Amino acid sequence: MSEPIPSWRRQAYSIEAMRALARARLPRPVFDFADGGAGDEYTLRRNEAAFDEFALLPRPLSGAAERDLSISLFGQRLSMPVIVGPTGLAGLFWPDGERCAARAAKETGTAFCLSHGSVCTLEDLAACGASPRWMQLFIYKDRGFTRELAERAATAGYDALVLTTDNQLLGNRERDIRNGFSIPPRFGLAGLAGMALKAEWLWRMRRDLKRITFGNYARPGEAADLKALAGRMASLLDPSMSWKDVEDLRKIWSGPLILKGVLHPDEARIAAEHGIDGLIASNHGGRQLDGAPATIDALPAIVDSIGGRIPVLIDGGIRRGSDVVKALALGAKACLVGRPQLWGLAVAGEAGVTHMLSIYRQEIDRVMGLCGVTNIAAIDKTILLQPRNGRNA
Ligand SMILES: Cc1cc2nc3c(=O)[nH]c(=O)nc-3n(C[C@H](O)[C@H](O)[C@H](O)COP(=O)(O)O)c2cc1C
Repeated sequence: MSEPIPSWRRQAYSIEAMRALARARLPRPVFDFADGGAGDEYTLRRNEAAFDEFALLPRPLSGAAERDLSISLFGQRLSMPVIVGPTGLAGLFWPDGERCAARAAKETGTAFCLSHGSVCTLEDLAACGASPRWMQLFIYKDRGFTRELAERAATAGYDALVLTTDNQLLGNRERDIRNGFSIPPRFGLAGLAGMALKAEWLWRMRRDLKRITFGNYARPGEAADLKALAGRMASLLDPSMSWKDVEDLRKIWSGPLILKGVLHPDEARIAAEHGIDGLIASNHGGRQLDGAPATIDALPAIVDSIGGRIPVLIDGGIRRGSDVVKALALGAKACLVGRPQLWGLAVAGEAGVTHMLSIYRQEIDRVMGLCGVTNIAAIDKTILLQPRNGRNA
């Protein structure tokens, strides 16, 4: 007899439906911590809305009975062009959240990128066998710490290093201010009232809440006090970083080095000239510079300036398989998803993230079938129409 389908799975029929389930399950300050953006959230909204400005042109007579969604990236085969992106404090959404998400990615056959701000250490994540695994870090004021993290990632067998460049100052997250949410989490009066209504999350997290920390920042022999570590992390961010720092990192990391947070075509070109192996066109999910363009709007100019020298990846507002196909049609090699993994975790931990990835897989497959495309390499601009001018994108 087949297993009964859990009720959450029936309700989690789309990424947006998973978001709604997560909203119902999480205390408001925790939900908003993930869901919110910077300032007026213009960029956050625009990330999603901009995808609607491209239409998909079906080609039903092309005969795409079977579709192959796999891609090759940095020498590894991925089962589909969707990667789990770095999100700090995933362990706040489900106990041991990072390892749950990493195992889900592995089971799906795709890559997982660990955030610098993970609750578990990068070594603990590696020990769960996640593969391919990427490690994300910053250029810190203490350059020795940047080097240390890169060396730890190499020792722990990470397949790629992701340098995030758009977080040199912290974005102004007004929902967090309104909710009294801070790192370390302090929920304020309104937040506490909301927490009482989320008994299931509180019960599940009862042991882990005490252990929420920034695992990678704890020094050997030092108590992993979250407040001290959060202060240390914030004080380490360095607005004065420059291409020289990228060069220095390039010298100490021999594997694939990926720059995340690139929106300007000039930066993309310079990155390619600095021996960078790949770019992620990203505005940090609208959490940093409010007013920055949607990533899908910025993508074509970046792809043009790179001229095929290195792969360009993209994240931000990707909520449908059709969004993935549109991004690939405009020249992206793969997409990363941030918030959807946290919604997946909030709904059902590892099973929730696996389910989230399966939604993308099914949707991409369906779009490819309806558009007459049999493999990822065959997705190009001719699949897109810009309805505003009736021309191909
Ligand atoms: C709660 C949260 C934490 C994040 N933490 C990090 C981080 O530690 N490092 C990083 O490079 N990006 C971080 N990001 C940004 C994501 O990697 C990604 O750029 C963004 O979420 C993509 O947009 P999406 O959420 O619309 O998919 C975070 C995003 C969220 C929502």
